[in-house]
Amino acid sequence: MNNGTSTDWKQADLAAWYNKNMRGDITNYAALFNFNDKDHLLDLGCGDGTLLALAAQKGAQVTGVDMADVQLELARQKLQGCKNATLLQRTLQEVDFAPNSFTKISMRKAIHHLTNDEKGLLIDKIHHWLTPGGILIIEDMILSFALHRKDEKLPCLDRDAAQFYAGKWPQVRDAVLTTLYKEFPCDLAQLTHHLLFTGFTITRILTPTCFYTTVIAEK
Ligand SMILES: C[S@@+](CC[C@H](N)C(=O)[O-])C[C@H]1O[C@@H](n2cnc3c(N)ncnc32)[C@H](O)[C@@H]1O
Repeated sequence: MNNGTSTDWKQADLAAWYNKNMRGDITNYAALFNFNDKDHLLDLGCGDGTLLALAAQKGAQVTGVDMADVQLELARQKLQGCKNATLLQRTLQEVDFAPNSFTKISMRKAIHHLTNDEKGLLIDKIHHWLTPGGILIIEDMILSFALHRKDEKLPCLDRDAAQFYAGKWPQVRDAVLTTLYKEFPCDLAQLTHHLLFTGFTITRILTPTCFYTTVIAEK
C-alpha cells in the first residue's frame, strides 16, 4: 500500500493514493481561472484530468501534459466525448509548444517536481506559450519562509497542515514531508523572482498556510 512516500508517478498505486487522499476538491481553484469558451487551457502535470474536465465543461479547449500513463488514462476517461481535448504524455522538462498557444496555464502540485533551474526554464517557456494578457496559476508547496529555514519551521508547518488537511493530516504527513525533503519545493521569494524576471505581473497571492500557496500571474 502506497502512503505517498514514493515519488515514482509511474506507479499506479501512488497515483491512486494521491488522487484519493491528496488531490482534494479543486472547484475553488478552477473558479480562479474563470474559464469560458474562448479559452485554451494548458494543464502541466494534469494528473487525473479533474481541472481539464472542469474547464471543458465551460466550453474551453483543453490540453493536458503528464508523464504518467496511469494518470493520463484517468484523464482520458474524464474527457470522454469532449472534442476539444488533447492529452500528451511528456515530461515537463521536454514538452514544447508554439508561442501564443494558450490563454490560461495551470501548474497545480507539479512545480515541486522540478529543480530550481528547471523551474526557471519552464516559466520562461510558459511566458512564450501564453497569449498576451494570458494567465498562469501555480499552486503547490510554496513556502512563505526561506527554504533553508525548513527544519526550524517544521512546528509551524505541522500546525498549519493539521488545520489545512483536517482529519487527513496523520495519513498525509509522510507525503508532505517527502515533498519537503526529497523533492524540490521552493519558497515564495524564489518563485516570484522567476516570474518577475521572466516578465510576468503577479496579480494575486493566496497563502492559506505557511507551506502552501497559490500564485496568479499575468503575461
Ligand atoms: C501531485 S500530482 C498533481 C496532479 C494534478 N495537477 C492535481 O492537482 O491533482 C503531480 C502530477 O505531475 C506528474 N509529474 C510529476 N513529475 C513530472 C514531470 N517531470 N513531467 C511531467 N509530469 C510530471 C505526475 O505524474 C502527477 O500526475
